[in-house]
Amino acid sequence: MKIIGTGSALPKRIVTNDDLSQIIDTSDEWITERTGIRERRIVSDETTVSLAAEAGRKALENAGVHAENIDLLIVSTFTPDNSLPNTACAVQRILGCRRAVAFEMNAACSGFLFALNTAYAYFSLGVYKKALIIGAETISKVLNWKDRSSCILFGDGAGAVVVEKTEKEDYLFVQYADGANGEVLTCRCHREQNIWNDCQEEKETLWMDGQEVFKFAVRKVPECIRELLNMAQLSAEEINWFLLHQANKRIIQSVAKRLGVKEEKFPMNLEHYGNTSAASIPILLDEWNRQGYFEEKNKAILSGFGAGLTWGAALINF
Ligand code: COA
Repeated sequence: MKIIGTGSALPKRIVTNDDLSQIIDTSDEWITERTGIRERRIVSDETTVSLAAEAGRKALENAGVHAENIDLLIVSTFTPDNSLPNTACAVQRILGCRRAVAFEMNAACSGFLFALNTAYAYFSLGVYKKALIIGAETISKVLNWKDRSSCILFGDGAGAVVVEKTEKEDYLFVQYADGANGEVLTCRCHREQNIWNDCQEEKETLWMDGQEVFKFAVRKVPECIRELLNMAQLSAEEINWFLLHQANKRIIQSVAKRLGVKEEKFPMNLEHYGNTSAASIPILLDEWNRQGYFEEKNKAILSGFGAGLTWGAALINF
């Protein structure tokens, strides 16, 4: 399986750490130091569907693929605008991917990776040949804007890739879930409106035990990357890029350290977007692609981790 095009879409409104310090007891210094995040995008008139469709349209354009040639369309999100129709069918309608089967998946911050793995499984069975995989979120509508330990971390956005089946065995993945420990990161609500600035009760919104999530991430991510490297019979040095879910700079630095890999191999953009959950890896992939880093014969490891708990990693060849 090969990535042949990428796209992304971000809300217009930029909310800086200083903006947040106007509504909660926090500071730019605290947020930057503990997370690496300086600003994030928050929806105003954009929706999960509109962001997903724009990212998808750009990925199709970048791949030079007509919408009607897509036969699988998956949107990963935990913040859909509506329960029905599912986000992927709503995007299908906008983009005109008439031949595609379209469905939504939720595996939180691992969602994009799990969707990519799903496409690969279909490709391997010979069922489909070209897929549009999108991660899209409007997390701002489910945040508790009174909870300074969680609301500062997240942002809205969407990213997309077009993938196609190849004859070579050039994709490998590992993926995991652990529902028994899922209570450390929950979101009980489902809202249709953007409630930015409109504070909600804690129990109805996203809730997180930050330290437990941190510990989970820095333990499980290196573990599954090592497993993937063993499967591929590759050393970490042979990997050009490690494109990780953009949750926190300190998590990424710790993973790099535990793997004994230089931090320069771990591109980051969380400074500008915060944690955009399922959208973070495809937004990063799009930036990396448009900056010309998708060089022939390069190898990259993608890794997602988050609520569920869920985590995993995939090896892609360019
Ligand atoms: N601004 C200022 N102070 C804050 C704050 C904020 N935004 N958020 C928390 N604090 C305070 C706490 O109240 C606490 O104060 P106290 O010592 O007086 O009680 C102090 O800072 C330390 O809090 P703590 O929770 O120990 O901080 P931390 O170093 O663990 O950082 C997170 C908190 C949330 C940044 C960190 O745990 C984290 O990033 N976890 C992973 C979260 C994540 O990435 N989730 C998504 C994964 S997909």
